[in-house]
Amino acid sequence: MKLIITKHNLGLWAANQVAQRINETNKNPFVLGLPTGGTVEDMYAALSSLVKHQKVSFKNVVSFNMDEYVGLAPEHDQSYHYYMNYHLFSHIDIDPKNTHILNGQAADLAAECAAYEDAIKQTGGIDLFLGGVGQNGHLAFNEPGSDFDSRTRVVDLTENTIEANSRFFGGDLKAVPTQALSVGIGTVLAAKELLFLASGAKKAEAVAQLTQEGVSTRWPVTALKTHANATLLVDEAAASLLTGAAKEELDKQKQANPQGDWILHLG
Ligand code: GLP
Repeated sequence: MKLIITKHNLGLWAANQVAQRINETNKNPFVLGLPTGGTVEDMYAALSSLVKHQKVSFKNVVSFNMDEYVGLAPEHDQSYHYYMNYHLFSHIDIDPKNTHILNGQAADLAAECAAYEDAIKQTGGIDLFLGGVGQNGHLAFNEPGSDFDSRTRVVDLTENTIEANSRFFGGDLKAVPTQALSVGIGTVLAAKELLFLASGAKKAEAVAQLTQEGVSTRWPVTALKTHANATLLVDEAAASLLTGAAKEELDKQKQANPQGDWILHLG
């Protein structure tokens, strides 16, 4: 994988990359995996603007979101259905029929998850999976301990995640659902290309784990190291706890090219 540290706006950087992939492959359908969270809001704003200025079209895009809280109605303003309409879908030319988000209110949650995996398979698989990283290193809602070959399923959220996400629920820990439906790490790794984003000092510990020897299910983010075409794009704050050879290499590149981007090859 590549760890790219940039001084530029992560959202703009990522949106340009997404538009480039959709345009250059000219594939129909182009299948995108989509995340939620604070980190990717800028990316969605930038993508909306690129569509508005006709630099890219989502007419041939089919999307699959990573996760959804169990029990929240799509109209709930903290559901990921609501988030996606608010931040992206209502601003772009995607056909609503081509957007997929897990139904956290399904009567049979296991059947909902199995049908989601089938639907992904039927499109031929995900071309580009976009994502964020949790403070505890989670990918989608794959909390520490999740198997790297896990697939879409019901997951229990950890205290750390409930606390981190309570900011979206008015700071009320009890208002945060305790379970979610989430694609698995295996579902993510099956995509042809991965582009994940992490910003801010709160993500620095998770990012630093990537420079440890090998991988560990304790830090789901390290699964990215096993993928042949994965990029984690971070800002300088998220890269602030790098140590050892990775830090030396970063410092060397910063000296040679002060404006960046700086690229570390890991795993
Ligand atoms: C949630 C999502 C994750 C996301 C994480 C990071 O837990 N399920 O997919 O990566 O938040 O969120 P933020 O970008 O707000 O830090």
